[in-house]
Amino acid sequence: MNIKTLIDEKKIENRIKEVAKQIENDYSNEEIVIICILKGAAFFATDLAKRINLPVTVDFMKVSSYEGTESTKKIDFKLDISTDISNKNVIIVEDIVDTGRTLTYLKDYLNSKNPKSLKICTMLDKKERREFDLNPEYVCFEIPDKFVIGYGLDYDEKYRNLPYIGYIE
Ligand code: IMP
Ligand code: MG
Repeated sequence: MNIKTLIDEKKIENRIKEVAKQIENDYSNEEIVIICILKGAAFFATDLAKRINLPVTVDFMKVSSYEGTESTKKIDFKLDISTDISNKNVIIVEDIVDTGRTLTYLKDYLNSKNPKSLKICTMLDKKERREFDLNPEYVCFEIPDKFVIGYGLDYDEKYRNLPYIGYIE
C-alpha cells in the first residue's frame, strides 16, 4: 500500500505547541480536565497534555458508532469517565471531526454532568463533511475530504503508530 504524507511529524509537533499555548492563555491558571476519546485521540491527547503548563487531569472515554436498523448511525458507549466533572473546565480531545455525530452526542452527554465549561479540541477537522452543527474551539489542522491514517488514526485498526498523518493513494 502506498502511503503519502499529509502532515509530517515536525508540523504536528509545532502545531501542538501552539494549541497548547492557546489553551494555557484561555484558562490562565485554572484547572482543566482533558477527556481523551479512545482509541484514536490517545496519541494526540498525551502529546498535547505534556505541553500544557496548567494543572491538568486526564480521563478517557470510548465510544463506537454502528449502523442502526433504519441505517441511522447510533453511538455506543464502551467506556465512561471516572472523574466527577461537575463545575470543572473540561476539554474533549478527539483525533478527527468528520460528520460531527460522535462529538455532538458526547457533548450532550458531558454537558448533562454540569461542567463549568466544555470545549472541544481536535487534531483534524474535515469541515466539508459536517452533518451536525458542531464547531470545535481548538483545531490543529483543517484537512480535505480524504481518508487519513497515522498518529492515532487507523484503517482497520492498523497504522495508528505512524508518527505522521498520511493518506492512502
Ligand atoms: P464523526 O462522528 O462522523 O465526526 O466521526 C468521527 C470518527 O470517525 C473519528 O473519531 C474516527 O474514528 C472516524 N474517522 C473519520 N474520518 C476518518 C479518517 O479519515 N481516518 C480514520 N478515521 C476516521
Ligand atoms: Mg475516533
